Amino acid sequence: MFNTKIGGIGYYVPETVMTNDDLTEYMDTSDEWIRERTGIQERRYATKHKETTTTLAARAAEKAIADAGINKEDIDFIIFATLSPDYFFPGSGVLLQRELGITNTEIGALDIRNQCSGFIYGLSIADQFVKTGMYKNVLLVGSEMHSMGLDFDTRGRNVTVIFGDGAGAVICQPTEENGKGVLTTHLHSNGTCAEELAMIIPGSHGGYHLGTEQFGFPEDDKPGGIYITQKMLDDHMIYPNMNGPLVFKWAVQKFPAVIQEALKKTGYESTDIDMLIPHQANLRISQFVQKVLKLSDDQVFNNIQKYGNTTAASIPIALCEARDLGKVKEGDLVCLAAFGSGFTWGSALIRW
Ligand code: ACO
Repeated sequence: MFNTKIGGIGYYVPETVMTNDDLTEYMDTSDEWIRERTGIQERRYATKHKETTTTLAARAAEKAIADAGINKEDIDFIIFATLSPDYFFPGSGVLLQRELGITNTEIGALDIRNQCSGFIYGLSIADQFVKTGMYKNVLLVGSEMHSMGLDFDTRGRNVTVIFGDGAGAVICQPTEENGKGVLTTHLHSNGTCAEELAMIIPGSHGGYHLGTEQFGFPEDDKPGGIYITQKMLDDHMIYPNMNGPLVFKWAVQKFPAVIQEALKKTGYESTDIDMLIPHQANLRISQFVQKVLKLSDDQVFNNIQKYGNTTAASIPIALCEARDLGKVKEGDLVCLAAFGSGFTWGSALIRW
């Protein structure tokens, strides 16, 4: 059995900066409200009609491939994590393969839908493939173009101000170095509150989970259904919905628990963590987790201030930035942790 190491890493964020003040042009909000509640100062927005979740992913992937010192043809599997895919189907993995120009190798491409936990779920999947010797260069990407799917009306402000666009990618490779690479991963979910942080339209539910009345489905008994009704459009139901206080309550319990689980499994203490890279959900959540685990400022990396919450992309973007700044170094014990829609959550411990 091999261990899985991150042999290359890269990220890409679009050029356009959207500050909190810029958002006040579109909705009733303020820099003060956003900073105080989330820590976010600005986020990046991709150029609509020119960039997509897949093209952002491709820019990050190219950097990770170069960082790993491999050729794109060496990639033997793709894992793509996103909640903002280019299409309902097919998934973005095959689009990334095409965008990178590696269709000739006809490798497998897997899309995963685990939202904020997508990168950790993806890393755990890549780890299983690599340590068994099945693949040698798995390209794992988290990418989001949220800006195309947010409600810029005041009624969407509690969600819209939080999210930004960006992509991060890693190349997962086998290593025979003892004690190096991914030491453990832990994945969890609980669907009880699935709709409390969700975008439920379009979808095949036809009102099943929540009752049909509010959606305006046509009253007929003909076969076939409809994903989107005029009422859904009129009532802004096509945008993400979040019960912020509930998400906060769950996140501050599950983040520390899943980190402790990884530490317990490997026999480490929180003082052994050289760098915790939490999913950049909200600075207040990260600070709460830091406090519970009694970590120093030097043990936690946050960059949500600059990029907002980039969901599946937030961990690889932060990990790459931390590495580039010399805050993640060879031999460091790095902990990744996430919580998000589903609810899903997870952690990974890596000896860098
Ligand atoms: N600007 C100004 N006012 C706003 C905004 C905004 N962007 N959004 C909401 N408000 C208003 C509300 O309308 C409400 O007004 P009211 O009292 O007149 O009704 C008031 O602010 C308070 O609203 P709450 O939703 O109760 O605000 P809260 O203090 O809970 O803060 C927040 C909201 C920041 C979302 C908080 O609940 C939170 O941190 N939750 C965690 C959720 C999170 O971080 N999600 C990240 C994405 S999910 C993930 O990655 C895990």
